[in-house]
Formats: sequence, structure tokens, C-alpha cells
Amino acid sequence: MKIAVIGSGYVGLVAGACFAESGNTVVCVDNNEQKIEGLKKGLIPIYEPGLKELVLRNAAEGRLSFTTDLPAAIKSSLIHFIAVGTPPGADGAADLRSVMEVARNIGRHMESFKIVVDKSTVPVGTADKVKTAIREELAKRGVSYEFDVVSNPEFLKEGAAIEDFMKPDRVVIGTDNVRTAAIMKELYDPFMRKQNRLITMDVRSAEMTKYAANAMLATRITFMNQIANLCERLGADVAAVREGIGADTRIGYDFLFSGPGYGGSCFPKDVKALIKTAEECQYDFLLLKAVTEANERQKQVLSDKVLKLLGDSSKAQPLDGRTIACWGLSFKPRTDDMREAPALTVIGNLLAMGAKVRAHDPEALQEAVKHFGTRVDLCTHQYEMLCGCDALIVVTDWNEYRNPDFDRIKAALKQPIVVDGRNLYKLSRMREAGFTYVPLGRSSRDRIEGVS
Ligand SMILES: NC(=O)c1ccc[n+]([C@@H]2O[C@H](COP(=O)([O-])OP(=O)(O)OC[C@H]3O[C@@H](n4cnc5c(N)ncnc54)[C@H](O)[C@@H]3O)[C@@H](O)[C@H]2O)c1
Repeated sequence: MKIAVIGSGYVGLVAGACFAESGNTVVCVDNNEQKIEGLKKGLIPIYEPGLKELVLRNAAEGRLSFTTDLPAAIKSSLIHFIAVGTPPGADGAADLRSVMEVARNIGRHMESFKIVVDKSTVPVGTADKVKTAIREELAKRGVSYEFDVVSNPEFLKEGAAIEDFMKPDRVVIGTDNVRTAAIMKELYDPFMRKQNRLITMDVRSAEMTKYAANAMLATRITFMNQIANLCERLGADVAAVREGIGADTRIGYDFLFSGPGYGGSCFPKDVKALIKTAEECQYDFLLLKAVTEANERQKQVLSDKVLKLLGDSSKAQPLDGRTIACWGLSFKPRTDDMREAPALTVIGNLLAMGAKVRAHDPEALQEAVKHFGTRVDLCTHQYEMLCGCDALIVVTDWNEYRNPDFDRIKAALKQPIVVDGRNLYKLSRMREAGFTYVPLGRSSRDRIEGVS
């Protein structure tokens, strides 16, 4: 099939490369010329495991191309995936300007039947707006071509995006048109050879499914973070509690790790957008308001712990003279995405309290320059950067931080303080090694079987 994917970011580039991999002819469009020029030369603008190989192979074999020429891409394709960004506006609502601009362009340039697929995460009712915009543009031209607008929200996770796209646990297709449903099924068939995982529904339910999924996951994380905060105050251990509740099959183990708050390009904005959608139909979504507020507070927890350990309240800036090392900048491992990452708040707070900050991340250092410029010392070596620091904070649970060389850490730090925002290390091991170890939601007592 001939496919145009409009918006070549985390979602668009992955979707484009995966559709090309299954034999389709795909053109990836973006209005960022630099990005497209880079892609034409094989430069992948984001870090996503396996993406580079997939893009290079499919481009070399002629199934995947890149352009800024949207009108040409529209004319040559049957299916148009809209995968542009939908960032939060000032009031929390999803900013649909890019989506609507693409929709209008499709109306301006289409010359035959088209399927327009909303893959961006968009509020319920957006497919109707896209349809209206295309109709208006066709009317201005005095032409009438058939088209159908489909909702096909994306559920991939950054860091495992290719795997998720190639082997999805479900593909949601929202359409009322039988012919379009059949074409979408054909397109996705190669990704579900073992078992059909295509779920077809009406357009509005498909749009809602994406928000409901993200809101549920954000709520689980936040619930567990609050349980962790309470465990800390009561002398209980959140790691044990997690095992205890995860074993309940109605609850399960996923998304129960406590941490410094959820971040990334999806959960924060989608939760806010759903609250806003609810407001627009006079519904007060109390639960999600609490989730958002609790998450903002959670992002303060790590810097509060450093302040408690090292702060000097007699100084205007209580961490003046301190240097803090930070492991992890991306909002989660295996991505370079720092949108709404907890590290932004943690480091911002430390700087505001007068500390100097050195930070390491396996993939996000270039991204970090955009956020911090020269205000943070961005380091490529995980251990060398620790020399002379007053404490180490672990913010992101990259694999290379899971089983580090503790002797090296201890020898390099001025004082052996580790604030662990991801509960990566055993309490007993850290105590025996002589660290002041501050995890989240864990008491200093060992578990009976000594496994803590
Ligand atoms: N990143 C994720 O993990 C993820 C997962 C599921 C869904 N989503 C949703 O998918 C959408 C895209 O997210 P993303 O993370 O890929 O965003 P992104 O910012 O990485 O990519 C968006 C791309 O669209 C381009 N663009 C913007 N306006 C354009 C226009 N008018 N014409 C052509 N190109 C344009 C930008 O230059 C950019 O390259 C969002 O709605 C997001 O919520 C994201």
C-alpha cells in the first residue's frame, strides 16, 4: 500500500519504518527541513533501539523515503497517518494546530479517495473536526472526493517502540466505514500473524481508549508513589508491599514501582488534556486532578531529600558550595526523550538552592543541552563525574546504573551519600559498604529472609 506518515518524530518515524518493513511504500513527511535532510543522509534524530537499522535498510531498499513536500506525498498515497505533536496548550488542552493544518492540507491537495488516520493522541471529537476541515477545503476548491477519517491511537512505548509496533498487544481502529476497516485490517495483518489483535470500534471510543489507557497508567504510578511516601513515614517497605499486592492477579505487577514521578511526552499531557476535556463537558474529573497534583509534588521528593541531608539553613541558598551528581536525565531508560522528565525538576531545584550539578545519561546528553545549556556539567563518564561530589542521586533506571561499581562510587564521592529515586540497590549491601543510602519508601530494616 502507499502510505504517507505526516510528522516524523518518535511515533511517525517508527510507524513509517515498520510499515515499510512489512512491504509498503512509505513516505515520511515533516515540516522540519533539518530533520528531513538528516534522515535522507541516514541521520536518525532520536534514540530508539533498533530504529536506525530499520530506517537505513528500508530506505536503501527503496520502500522508505523522506520529504518536506506534503502536497506530493498526499497525491501519491492512499493512507495518510497524521502523527504530528499534540503538546499541551497553556490551559492543559491538547494543542491541535498541527493536526488541523495537516488536515486542511490534505483537503487542499487530494485528488482521489483517501483514508486519513489520526495516529496522534487527540481528544474525543477530533476526527469530526478533521473531517470538517477537509470538507471545507474541498468545498473551496469546488471538488468532491470521498475520504474517511479513522482514529488509530498509538500505544508504543519509547525505548521498546519497534518491538511494540511490530508485535502489538492490540491495535485499535475507530471507524464506521466497513470498506476502510477492511483496508486497515489488511495493513495491520502482517503485525498479528499469530493472533488477531485488531479491535475495531466507533471513532469516539477509539479516541477515548488512548486517554483512558494513559490516565489509568499514570494513576497506578501515582498511587504507588503515594503508598511509598506513606511507607517511609510508617517504617514499612514499599518493595515488600509491591510484591504483596502485585501477586493479586486482579492488581498484577506492572506499573507498581515507585519513583520520582511520571514524565515523558504522553502521561503528563494526556492526563491534563483529559481533565480539560471533562471540564468542557461540565464534568469535574477529581481523580485525575489529584493524580496530576500528586505527581508534581512527587517530582520534588528527591531534591527535598538532598536538602535534608546536606542543606545549610543559615545560607540564603542552602546547598551553596555543594556539588551533586545525577545519574539519568531521560524520563525513562532506553530513550533520549526528556519531555517533562523528573530530572528537569530535580536538577532545577538543586540549582535554585545553590548547588552545582553534574549529570550523566547514556543517551540524553544532547537533549539536556537544550534544557540546561551550560548551567549543568554534562558528563560522558559515569564514574569520573563523581569525583569530589557531595552526593549521587539516581533519577533514571538505566541498566548501567543497576549494578554499578560501588567501590568506585565510594572512592570518588566526597561523602558516600546515594539518594536512589528508583530503589535499585539492596539496603543491606549499601549499609555494609558504608553508604548513607536513601531510597524511596523503604525502611532501613532488612526483610526476614534478608533479601531486601
Ligand atoms: N512519543 C510517544 O511515546 C507516543 C506514544 C503514543 C502516542 N504518541 C502521540 O503521537 C503524537 C506524536 O508524538 P511524538 O512523540 O512522535 O512527537 P514528536 O514531537 O517526536 O514528533 C512530531 C513531529 O511532527 C512534526 N510536525 C509538527 N507539525 C507538523 C506539520 N504541520 N507538518 C509536518 N510535520 C509536522 C514535528 O516536526 C515532529 O518531527 C502525539 O500526539 C503523541 O501524544 C506519542
